[in-house]
Amino acid sequence: MARRKKIYEGKAKILYEGPEPGTIVQYFKDDATAFNAEKKDVIEGKGVLNNRLSEFFMTGLNGIGVPTHFIKRLNMREQLVRACEIVPLEIIVRNYAAGSMSKRLGIEEGTALPRPIVEYCYKDDKLGDPLVTEEHIAAFGWASQQDMDDIVALALRVNDYLSGLMYGVGIRLVDFKIEVGRVYDGDYQRLIVADEISPDSCRLWDIESGQKLDKDVFRHDLGNLADAYTEVARRLGVMPKSATHMAKPKLIN
Ligand SMILES: Nc1ncnc2c1ncn2[C@@H]1O[C@H](COP(=O)(O)OP(=O)(O)OP(=O)(O)O)[C@@H](O)[C@H]1O
Ligand SMILES: [Mg+2]
Repeated sequence: MARRKKIYEGKAKILYEGPEPGTIVQYFKDDATAFNAEKKDVIEGKGVLNNRLSEFFMTGLNGIGVPTHFIKRLNMREQLVRACEIVPLEIIVRNYAAGSMSKRLGIEEGTALPRPIVEYCYKDDKLGDPLVTEEHIAAFGWASQQDMDDIVALALRVNDYLSGLMYGVGIRLVDFKIEVGRVYDGDYQRLIVADEISPDSCRLWDIESGQKLDKDVFRHDLGNLADAYTEVARRLGVMPKSATHMAKPKLIN
């Protein structure tokens, strides 16, 4: 059998050339990284959960007319997606203060924001993905004004969709990050939601208890990350109600 071509290996995923031109296979790894990869570990089962959860969110978004790169899930760890030119920005939407925003502005974590706030970070690991403004984005040509209008509209629609979905299962969507990419249909260029939407890229807090169900569990050693993601999947009905995360049997000696 011919070996398929690896296009890129990142911190959490591997991209392979897809079966048709313009398609990519996204493989979800178990690797977890935080603080710009200063903290690393392998969390058994994380890739399977994120593949399923990203499929679930992207399918829902496609279903309400928010275009995404998702085509279909291929197996436990892989999905087929539409290849796109990634805009070199992380687009962050915040509903409650947390993480770097709390630190930067001295706002207590969990404070409700007066309205959703959209932020942009320039995707560059060497620089630690620095926060940038629309002025930088326009001046350096990372995206046009039309692109920016489309990006904000996409980001806010994703926010409404995800916030509602999570609220329905007792989870607060504190913030999340998306990536968007350009695809070409003839002479037209469109922007679509790409990469992944998963508890790796969202902050999710249980509404009642405040328990964190996202990558902060790993960042701040708050417990088992796969258990937290399994809980999100279970509540959303993505995994059977009875599912518990099971580690591989360990050999003793
Ligand atoms: N549909 C797509 N077409 C092309 N590239 C994509 C698509 N979806 C996601 N990507 C890119 O694939 C890579 C996914 O790998 P991963 O998330 O592991 O990267 P990473 O280590 O976080 O690095 P990066 O800083 O580039 O995101 C990212 O670079 C992402 O921008
Ligand atoms: Mg990434």
